Parts: sequence; structure tokens; C-alpha cells
Amino acid sequence: MKKIRFGLVGCGLMAREFASASARWCHLMKDIPQPEIVGICTPVPAEMDWFNKHFPDIKYHTADYRDLVAAEDIEVIYVAVPHNLHAEIYTAVIRSGKALLGEKPFGIDKKANDEILKAYEETPGTFVRCTSEFPYFPAVQTMIKWYNEGKFGRIINVNAGFEHSSDMDLNKPINWKRMVCFNGEYGCLGDLGIHTMHVPFKLGFIPQRVYAVMSDIVKTRPDGKGGTAICDTYDNAILMTTATDKDGNEFPMQINTRRMCPGATNRWYLEIYGLDCSAKFSSDDPNAFCYTASWGKEQAWSRINIGYKSMIPAITGGIFEFGFTDAIQQMIAAFILEYLGEEVPFGLFTPEETRLAHSLQTAAVKSHKNQTVEEIIP
Ligand SMILES: NC(=O)c1ccc[n+]([C@@H]2O[C@H](COP(=O)([O-])OP(=O)(O)OC[C@H]3O[C@@H](n4cnc5c(N)ncnc54)[C@H](O)[C@@H]3O)[C@@H](O)[C@H]2O)c1
Repeated sequence: MKKIRFGLVGCGLMAREFASASARWCHLMKDIPQPEIVGICTPVPAEMDWFNKHFPDIKYHTADYRDLVAAEDIEVIYVAVPHNLHAEIYTAVIRSGKALLGEKPFGIDKKANDEILKAYEETPGTFVRCTSEFPYFPAVQTMIKWYNEGKFGRIINVNAGFEHSSDMDLNKPINWKRMVCFNGEYGCLGDLGIHTMHVPFKLGFIPQRVYAVMSDIVKTRPDGKGGTAICDTYDNAILMTTATDKDGNEFPMQINTRRMCPGATNRWYLEIYGLDCSAKFSSDDPNAFCYTASWGKEQAWSRINIGYKSMIPAITGGIFEFGFTDAIQQMIAAFILEYLGEEVPFGLFTPEETRLAHSLQTAAVKSHKNQTVEEIIP
């Protein structure tokens, strides 16, 4: 099987997911080149142990990402590091001519995102994408297909959200994602927002105005060493935006990103309400696809078990269930197909889409601070 030689910058949570999905490539039925992990980079040597145990053939081990950028036998680099490092590392990868799969939010703020986009525009021919895996759940793929087929009719409103609850535990020690200097001023919105925007943006639901209410509920957290640390990021952000459907009709689109959401372990959801039909999906109930059937003047919500109907065919039987690790693998496979110039039914978040995400997030913070409705200027 043909392989694509990858370097991984960052050896944390997401890098391990990437490596695990790559290792079970036999899962996919389509003949797609398999990612081969040729080099890894982290300043924390202990983080390499898991990789060395499971991927003993890794050639480069380094604390300096420049070593992977310079390695001639690495084609693509996946970068999964804290947000304050995105601009420096992403621009270096892009300017080297290697392909980049970069984690969201693709820059700690709008300035950093502009720097990344500048490098991208100044390096013609490079292939760059940003991660976002939840759209690859089969129910979401069905919603996308239904919208493209015009099944919903005129859109009434759209709700998209990503919600967590582990921060409800006030004794949970702080990590870099709760500190503005590493995570960015957008707080939860920067960390979770792109996940909520991927499907709407691809469907052409481009937000034009935003009114945001953001909450910084928890001001300090245990520092994990017996002391207390400042927790200065927004915990929750609720955005009311206006968007238009493909016929130019305006509708309200609500985007929720919440870290303090009781009961939500990792709830990603999308709801599309239309005049002819409505549909919704929540990762709380990942096998369910819910949609309305009209009975004359009334609408009944129907729920079907969607099963394993993946965008890229896989060995799993259609009666089984699809999960987070499958979504990650579908996303990586879609990335590779796009990188090789093949069209996929639903592609990854593009650099241009990250620009729009940052415009929306920047306008949201301004809206919240000034209590104003802000225009979103791409
Ligand atoms: N797609 C998703 O579902 C998802 C989920 C969680 C996080 N993320 C994103 O992934 C990225 C990383 O998050 P994570 O949860 O894996 O974080 P993590 O804290 O688990 O891992 C971060 C890694 O970066 C490494 N690192 C720190 N400084 C570095 C440097 N100078 N050079 C190289 N490596 C360095 C750390 O040692 C660690 O290995 C972030 O952008 C985050 O927003 C995405």
C-alpha cells in the first residue's frame, strides 16, 4: 500500500488520536495511501514513550519542530500544539512547501490567523487544511446531503453547538486551554468554535452580523501543585448570528460553545429547521438521525438508527455504530484524498474558512464587550 510520510508536531491528546487512526488503516475499504509516522516532535520526552511503544519505526525524535520541517523524507506535517504556537509553526510548515494539517483554531487570534493565511497565499501550490471531525458522523452527512438536495425548503433557523461539562468540577486543575496566554482571548469560542462552523460554512450559511454573550464564570482553578492559578478565559459563549440560505433568504443561526454546560461530556450538535423538513443530530446519541415527517398540518419527529454509513466506505457493517475515533479516521482519509487532488463529498475546513471563523470570533468578542451587534467583515 502506498504511504504518505507524516511528521507530527505535538505528542498530546490529538496526536495520539491521529496515530491510532493511522494504525488501523485496514479499516477503510477505499485504496487510500496510509499515513506513516516518520517523525515526532515534543519538548516533553516522556510523551514520546507511547509513540515509541506502538510505532517503533519512527525515524526522527526531536524537541524542535524545525527538524521535521527540514526533513526531506517528510511530506505532510500534522500540528497539534497549544494555540500560542500555531502562527509560528504553521507558517514555517507552509513556507517549507510541505502540506499542513493544522489543528483549530488555526491561530490564537485574528492577527495570528492573518499571518498563517499570508504564508499560505505567498506559497502557491501548498496544501493546507484545518481539522474538524464531527461532520463525518453519518447522521450529519445525511443532513448535508438533504440540504444539498433541497429537502429542507426555506430555512427557518439553524442551531450549532459544542458543549462540555468537565469544567463544572471546580476542583479540576487548570490546563493551558483555560489560560488566555496559551489558548487566546476567544476562550471557549476559539477552542470549540470551528467545530460548530464547519458544516454551516460549507453549506453557505455565512454569518453577517453577530450579537454575543460570553461568560467568564470560573476565575481561578487549582494549579495542580497545591496552589491556585488564574483562569481568565471565557467559559461559555452564545452567539446569535444572521445567515442566508442558498436562495438568499436570511435566517437566525445560533452558535453555542460552552465549557460549563451541565451534563454535556462532549456534546456536538447541529439542528436545521426548514419549512419543508427539519433534522437534528447530537453526539449524545450518535446513532440517531432525527427528522420531521409532515402529516398534513402537523409534523412528527422521527428517529432512525442511522448505523455505520460512512462517507468513505469502511469494513464495519452498516448495522453497527459509528463513533468519535471513526470520525477522526474519516477526516484524515478525506484530508489525504483532498491532498492527492481527489474530490470528496465533504472536505475539511479550508484556510479561507478559518479566516471567516476568526472574523466571526473577533466580532463576537467585540460584541460581548461593547454589547453591540457587530458586522462580520471577512
Ligand atoms: N479536533 C479536535 O477534536 C481537538 C480536540 C482537542 C484539541 N484540539 C486541538 O489540538 C491542539 C492540541 O491540543 P491537545 O488537546 O492535543 O493538547 P495537549 O496539551 O494534549 O498536547 C499539546 C502538545 O503540544 C506539545 N508542545 C508544547 N509546546 C511545543 C513546542 N514548542 N513544540 C512542539 N510541541 C509542543 C506538548 O508537549 C503536547 O505534546 C490544539 O490546537 C487544540 O485546540 C483539537
